[in-house]
Amino acid sequence: MAGNQKAENQKADNQKADKRQYGKITAEILQELISIAGAAHVSADEEKLEAYSHDETSAEYHHLPEAVVTPTTTAQVAEIVRLANRERIPVTPRGAGSGLSGGSIPIFGGIALSLEKMDRIIEIDYENMTATVEAGVITNEINAASAERGLFYAGYPMSLETCCLGGNIAENAGGGKAIKYGVTGRYILGLELVTPTGEIVELGGKLYKDVTGYDLKQLIVGSEGTLGIVTRATVKLIGLPKAKADLLVLFQSPEDAIAVVPIIMTQGILPTSIEFMDRLSVQTSCRYLNESLPYEQAGAMLLIEVDGSHGDQVEADAIAIGELCAGHGALEVYIAEDRNMMERIWNVRRNIAEAFIVYSPVQSLEDIVVPIAAIPKIIPELERISAAYGMKIPCYGHAGDGNLHATLVKDPEMSMGEWFAVEKAALRELYAVTGRLGGKISGEHGIGIKRREFFLDLVDPVELELMRGIKQAWDPNGIMNPGKIF
Ligand code: LAC
Ligand code: ZN
Repeated sequence: MAGNQKAENQKADNQKADKRQYGKITAEILQELISIAGAAHVSADEEKLEAYSHDETSAEYHHLPEAVVTPTTTAQVAEIVRLANRERIPVTPRGAGSGLSGGSIPIFGGIALSLEKMDRIIEIDYENMTATVEAGVITNEINAASAERGLFYAGYPMSLETCCLGGNIAENAGGGKAIKYGVTGRYILGLELVTPTGEIVELGGKLYKDVTGYDLKQLIVGSEGTLGIVTRATVKLIGLPKAKADLLVLFQSPEDAIAVVPIIMTQGILPTSIEFMDRLSVQTSCRYLNESLPYEQAGAMLLIEVDGSHGDQVEADAIAIGELCAGHGALEVYIAEDRNMMERIWNVRRNIAEAFIVYSPVQSLEDIVVPIAAIPKIIPELERISAAYGMKIPCYGHAGDGNLHATLVKDPEMSMGEWFAVEKAALRELYAVTGRLGGKISGEHGIGIKRREFFLDLVDPVELELMRGIKQAWDPNGIMNPGKIF
């Protein structure tokens, strides 16, 4: 049934697209694109297009563009968008393609506009503690460039070594340090943007405060590439912590591990991270990395980090949190002295998503978010849904901010038809539970194409109309990343 539903949705999309009468990329248009960006930066060759047809979502969402363009300047981006707007050709902006909701998939064909060639660090301004970079820069390169002067960019997500800043801005990506340092949006001070009608606008600057009119740069943050193309950003840098300590805490079960999280969060010590991993998540990542950890058999674990400016304080905080865990059901508490071992464990954590993609390519990686006090209630619900639909739902994630990566995994024995049916039904239940607990369906990966039908069912109609009004005002011809969010 859900297979039919998917076909129906696809049909509805296509009809909508037809109604909008999107233009096609003819030989003449291709020539125009070449004259803007240069022959080396435009391709309609099917083999080349394939790489731009997907992100990290599963194959059911993938779609080829008609052409890929890799501009090298903001002026070129603007000219391409003006051409697309004139001809009503969809433009799908793209960074590193590491997204998890299909946001960079060109579902109506048209132009895949990749920022991969705009990857320069333009300036590290130590006096103002900012970095100004092009949108295609790999996020971790900002850290590499600012570390020598004791600064870093704290808004980065887990995929920091492969994702790029433009994509982080589009999704308002968050990561493992969000409980203390917040997510991408907190660090965005200025943006250079190409609007859907092809104008170039500078929003914000190097200012820590700015209430000069509506805060349009924060509207762009998290707008999933539907309101324009970020070509350049100025981000806030902060001082690297002088000291940090990691704790690895083992528990009998996921319930036991998660139950401690709200207790830690309400004791007045703010950790940098509280990451949760269940046994299957740890084991899958270890297998993928060819890693072997002495802790693989634990039912679940918390990886907790504290940082600060004094070693003594950090150590005292780590001990206090360790004691709290020991008093609330932990089997074992390790305060890491061995940095090498801690880095290995963090590496296991960072690679869980990729490991599931490799070993269980048919899956649904979720990023539900609930208020921190409600997080213990999620685990029994996952167990219930897992039993009801005959699927494994391993879980890991950023427990300290209520954001969990429950991952619905298809059993190899199950047919694809059956999978589509149970996947949709299980997601509906998961999202309903999340809503009842005061949560939302996406904390960091976005709606994109993957969650659109669920979002449309669940969003407040007034909120949806306000969002649609914004989209209409910015993108009257609906060419900028169409079919995403709503
Ligand atoms: C992570 C990604 C999946 O936390 O958000 O690993
Ligand atoms: Zn995450």
